[in-house]
Amino acid sequence: MQQKIIILDFGSQTTQLIGRRVRELDTFCEILPYNKYPEDDSDVIGVILSGSPYSVHDPEAFKVDLSRFMGRLPVLGICYGAQFISHSLGGKVEKADSREYGRAHLQTVDKTNPLFLGFDDNSQVWMSHGDTITAIPEGFKCIASTADVKYASYTNGKDVWAVQFHPEVFHTVQGTQLLKNFVVGICGSEQSWSADSFVDTTVAELKAQLGDDKVILGLSGGVDSSVAAVLLHRAIGKNLTCIFVDHGMLRKNEFRDVMHDYECLGLNVIGVDASEKFFADLAVVTDPEQKRKIIGRDFVEVFNAEAKKIEGAKWLAQGTIYPDRIESLNITGKVIKSHHNVGGLPKEMHLQLCEPLKWLFKDEVRRVGRSLGMPEHLITRHPFPGPGLAVRILGDITPDKVRILQDADDIYIRGLRNYKVKLSGEEARLVLAAGVPANMQNGEIEVSLYDQIWQAGTVLLSTVRSVGVMGDERTYEHPVALRAVTSTDAMTADWAHLPYDFMAKVSNEIINKVRGVNRVCYDISSKPPSTIEWE
Ligand code: XMP
Repeated sequence: MQQKIIILDFGSQTTQLIGRRVRELDTFCEILPYNKYPEDDSDVIGVILSGSPYSVHDPEAFKVDLSRFMGRLPVLGICYGAQFISHSLGGKVEKADSREYGRAHLQTVDKTNPLFLGFDDNSQVWMSHGDTITAIPEGFKCIASTADVKYASYTNGKDVWAVQFHPEVFHTVQGTQLLKNFVVGICGSEQSWSADSFVDTTVAELKAQLGDDKVILGLSGGVDSSVAAVLLHRAIGKNLTCIFVDHGMLRKNEFRDVMHDYECLGLNVIGVDASEKFFADLAVVTDPEQKRKIIGRDFVEVFNAEAKKIEGAKWLAQGTIYPDRIESLNITGKVIKSHHNVGGLPKEMHLQLCEPLKWLFKDEVRRVGRSLGMPEHLITRHPFPGPGLAVRILGDITPDKVRILQDADDIYIRGLRNYKVKLSGEEARLVLAAGVPANMQNGEIEVSLYDQIWQAGTVLLSTVRSVGVMGDERTYEHPVALRAVTSTDAMTADWAHLPYDFMAKVSNEIINKVRGVNRVCYDISSKPPSTIEWE
């Protein structure tokens, strides 16, 4: 049986990060809404309670019945989790005089306690809370304090631990050590969750589940669907048929190059050039949501028409990954953009759904891809939106505009791949933790700018024109905006601080080589309040 840690989500921004940190310890974990603790927990070895935007005193605060697991399994409360335990067991939580936010240092810490083994004096932690614990429950003792927070950590000395800081965030320097102490030292994880073990068990499971059945899979050229395809191909070989639709708004040469990659991997792929249909249906459409809806609808139509030709297919496989599925506690519940992913389920064909990557985070998908021997350029590809360049061209879409954008974008992306940077310290640690293969030499790694960022793309501002001069000629053409962001999950993102000499070179090359563009801007907005894509 696969051991697992349960993380109960009380709606914090960093809950997914706790999950990733636990997985980095080669331990399987599941993130569940705070009120969905499983009936059968025979495979659970420990429970973590996350942070929350609420105060324990808010009438609408999320509550959990601790007796479901406390006393039987080790428990770690983080931030709100720590306050909730205190509040529930007779301690006291009060509004802090000032919001405790940012870096702090553990002035006292019980380094003999199993949670803090290996800790240094004055270890830096990250605080982010408006309430503070002013009394801990009877039978509990304080095991760490900062200058401002007396009960930075407390325990009952047996099976309950709580920390008011966030061990999962990068700024808690020994956060990984703390989580390892809990997950491995206290809960007894065997650390047997790895990409290789995932491939072995999943291939065996897929063989048993699918037998001789035929399976259809929609490929997008992206990492998730490609890894899902190779995994399925390993399990069922030629019984897998992949469909890759070209809607005409992919990157320059992408359809050709990716088809070639797929064929080299031995996949059975049907490539469908449906660009004319998409361009015809999108003509004169300028509204972003309408564009997305048309593309989503056309995609399903084209995909289904191809899928119907595959006789006897019983399954539809998708590259859905864990963050796509986590039932997050979205407190506003508003739709910002309608996302369309490849291949709606053709209902009349009665296909069953197969999602072999549904438990994996993005960096784990990449590790699985490497374990399957896939080429590095496929594995490290940036995410790309389903509607493609259509949501990166403001205003209406024409084949000409797509060509201009493809050419500008190609210069930018090739530039990012070719520009190497040396990283050390925390920056290097972050990049290595994301699974980028690089060798540490003299404390430094060398990676491309492309590998250092989450996602980059170019936007054609085709509703805007500005004056320029080229040679002796006046120009009156469109600007492009370059976008590059750092992120871990695309939920939040920061604009990447690209080197000036790189931007200067790319700007020159685009303006000199791409007819129709006479100005290059760089997008310096973070998400929120902006989004990654412009439409
Ligand atoms: P936003 O623009 O919402 O994008 O900040 C977040 C992430 O989602 C990608 N994206 C999409 N992915 N279908 C997809 O599969 C879509 O319709 C879609 N729209 C945006 C975007 O590229 C970024 O990684």
